[in-house]
Amino acid sequence: MKVSFFDTKPYDRSYFEKCAADSLRLRFHEFRLNQETAMAASGDDAVCVFVNDRLDRSCLEQLHASGVRMVALRCAGFNQVDLDAARALGLAVTRVPAYSPHAVAEHTVALLLALNRKIHRAYNRVREHNFSLSGLVGFDLHGKTVGIVGTGKIGRITAQILRGFGMEVLAYDPFPSADWARSNAVSYVPFNELLERSAIISLHLPLTASTLHLLNATAFARMKPGVFILNTSRGKLVDTTALIASLKSGAIGGVAMDVYEEEEGVFFEDLSGQILQDDVLSRLLTFPNVLITSHQAFLTHEALGEIARVTVENLVNRSKGLPFLDGTVLA
Ligand code: NAI
Repeated sequence: MKVSFFDTKPYDRSYFEKCAADSLRLRFHEFRLNQETAMAASGDDAVCVFVNDRLDRSCLEQLHASGVRMVALRCAGFNQVDLDAARALGLAVTRVPAYSPHAVAEHTVALLLALNRKIHRAYNRVREHNFSLSGLVGFDLHGKTVGIVGTGKIGRITAQILRGFGMEVLAYDPFPSADWARSNAVSYVPFNELLERSAIISLHLPLTASTLHLLNATAFARMKPGVFILNTSRGKLVDTTALIASLKSGAIGGVAMDVYEEEEGVFFEDLSGQILQDDVLSRLLTFPNVLITSHQAFLTHEALGEIARVTVENLVNRSKGLPFLDGTVLA
């Protein structure tokens, strides 16, 4: 089976090459998949894509026309694929639903600790031999209230870690798990109550038509003054323009994000020698209380190994006419 990999970096190749089966012929492309680049998969049986590839109807039609019959997402989120179009074309689509929820939860907590205790600023200061502590005051997490929006795999682990700090954990999810909440001393509350009572709000839900800009000006207006926002889920869950307005007014105390609304074409790239063309991202980067990482929450050895293992197993199963692994099929 011939497979074209898009938007690949050296770390993708090394993990996939390590576990690739003899029956697979892998081609790695550095550029992203979209309707303009779909022709690069010509003659292949499958494509393997990541979070910022764009598989809209026209891209899927081109893939199909060139012989591709399977799309393997090497990520959990699937908002970048038009699943209705894939089904209509008879393309199989798989994903890796849970490669390491711990990796993402732990990165969320790392961002919170760094943001609150200003580790990013302290690190730079000390390297410049500036040992002053002015402006580095944080707060104890112990005893504070955190609101977890979305209590799936990642949200639950994040909640449990933060319970370990002695925080009060509120949660909102349209499909709550009462047993889990009881055994971890977490309280489910309505969404607006979570916004109103939390000192820290952390997003762990998928991007869908109904969750687009979940945190908008109305939501920000409900929040406590000085609230911290954490987003390791998807950039478009937050209205960045409204976020910037609330940062400028001082209503928001800090923001840590691993994802950004318009991250495609920017995140994962080394643009250090270029002029950044995104004025909104440029503005965000000027705030001392905004900490941004470039969609790296998943980036652990364990997660990369698991992503490669599950994806390769599904590709091999497809080539042998065997069923895909449980829980990985989207279309
Ligand atoms: P999951 O599917 O296990 O859990 C998602 C939860 O969100 C479910 O419990 C669902 O009921 C809930 N939910 C759906 N709509 C909601 C709403 N309107 N309000 C509140 N909750 C809602 O997903 P998992 O594995 O926990 O991942 C969460 C998100 O993390 C993914 O959707 C993905 O976007 C993101 N992610 C980010 C990564 C990164 O590297 N930054 C890596 C992996 C995932």
